[in-house]
Amino acid sequence: MNDFETRDNKEEIKRQSDYLSLLTEVVKGLKQRKNRDITACVETFGCQMNARDSEKISGILKSAGFVLIEDENADLTVYNTCSVRDNANQKVYGRLGRLSVFKKNNPDMKIVMCGCMTQEECVIDKICHSYSFVDLIFGTHNIYRLAEYLYYVYEGIENVKFDDSDENIVKRGKTIVSRWEETKVICEHLPVDRKFPYKSGVNIMFGCNNFCTYCIVPYVRGRERSREADEIIDEIKALVDDGVIEVMLLGQNVNSYGKNLENPISFSELLKRVEQIEGLSRIRFMTSHPKDLSDELIETIKNSNKICHHIHLPLQSGSSRILKKMNRVYDKEKYLDLALKIKREIPDISITTDIIVGFPGETKEDVDDTIDVIKKVGFDNAFTFIYSVRTGTPAAKMEQLDEEFVKEQFDRVLECVQETAREQVKKIQGKVLPVLCEEVNKQDENLITGRLENNTIVHFKGSRDLIGKIVNVRCDECRGFYYLGEIVE
Ligand code: 5AD
Ligand code: SF4
Repeated sequence: MNDFETRDNKEEIKRQSDYLSLLTEVVKGLKQRKNRDITACVETFGCQMNARDSEKISGILKSAGFVLIEDENADLTVYNTCSVRDNANQKVYGRLGRLSVFKKNNPDMKIVMCGCMTQEECVIDKICHSYSFVDLIFGTHNIYRLAEYLYYVYEGIENVKFDDSDENIVKRGKTIVSRWEETKVICEHLPVDRKFPYKSGVNIMFGCNNFCTYCIVPYVRGRERSREADEIIDEIKALVDDGVIEVMLLGQNVNSYGKNLENPISFSELLKRVEQIEGLSRIRFMTSHPKDLSDELIETIKNSNKICHHIHLPLQSGSSRILKKMNRVYDKEKYLDLALKIKREIPDISITTDIIVGFPGETKEDVDDTIDVIKKVGFDNAFTFIYSVRTGTPAAKMEQLDEEFVKEQFDRVLECVQETAREQVKKIQGKVLPVLCEEVNKQDENLITGRLENNTIVHFKGSRDLIGKIVNVRCDECRGFYYLGEIVE
């Protein structure tokens, strides 16, 4: 599938298409030599953005002739990394150790690291120094060059690097490294290998301009860049033609979509255009920043038959004092007003959130404010994180809190979140609601696992051929955070 094309950079896409042909020859040669399939495994850490990037990585690998497998003991293993919290980084370092054992047993194995972690110079230094068996490192901006980079890896960069190659590619020890600080390029029409036949993520924008003081994302994902609406619509139409009925529009801050395009367009306007696509049943989006969620967006969701009644609205903290130190640009009252307005306008909407506990300077009283917001809003779910110092961000230079104190506060928040979520999920008991059938239940193959519009999971009796279809299910038995139900004709 060499049908790359872009408005931004047609020539570059042609180059990548040529490299893909060269890489395909390499894989073919390997296959002949080894007299077996050449396998590749892509491991994703982190968020939905990374998951979508991994589908692009897998798409390129599959086009080159690799057989994709789930086992990391493959001929080529790619780690697409996350750096939003330190435990994500530590997990990757731990797993890398295991890969080195696989490589000892299969010296032809190639190991690739990319994603948010490898956008950071200090991480690259550490890998090149302590994990020198890694063959290739690149970041978040240059995934579309994977075929070119891999060709260098297999053929030896000294032998095949041409004059028109990117100057940013260097060799450090045995590792090929290409890290870009920034990019303006949005590469369209890359081959993609989708994980699910019936649903897909769709990037609508990349990067973030908000610089919340705790967050590494603006440093590793660069400045906000929106895709052209026409490109997005064309992509979704093609997905629908290929069997997709649900899309998740992806951006770090979808509410500021389109503001910097040559012909500006609002996120609501984009949603209205997506809504018109025939054959598409469900539209989701994430993430919404509370600072610029417009009344127009609330109206658009309210009047839509396709936009799911679920909104992920990160709170981070309920304390106005801490929100200011976080540079979130809203305070406790503004968040509460917004969340309660959304609930008033769309009563069956579910609101989920992200909360950070232990930001520098946070007191017990600040956490009380967070708990107050959780109770007043009644979140359907909340991802609660312990603050993690990210080198290079403003908050890293602030005085950090005592770990024991943070743990106590975290437990208080978690308990409140779980209680509220349990109450919320009970509200749909006995209701008949549409469910998208997603997979055969992992524990019991007579059951199908599906998702309600509000993102709640429901398990019910059904057969495999329902997967990818929307059916009506009565939510009979609430089991903590999910339901057992029954199909209703
Ligand atoms: N420490 C802890 N949590 C963080 N997040 C972002 N940066 C940090 C950090 N340094 C959380 C935020 C964000 C989610 C994706 O990750 O809650 O919304
Ligand atoms: Fe990070 Fe804030 Fe941007 Fe979200 S909005 S990615 S938390 S800087």
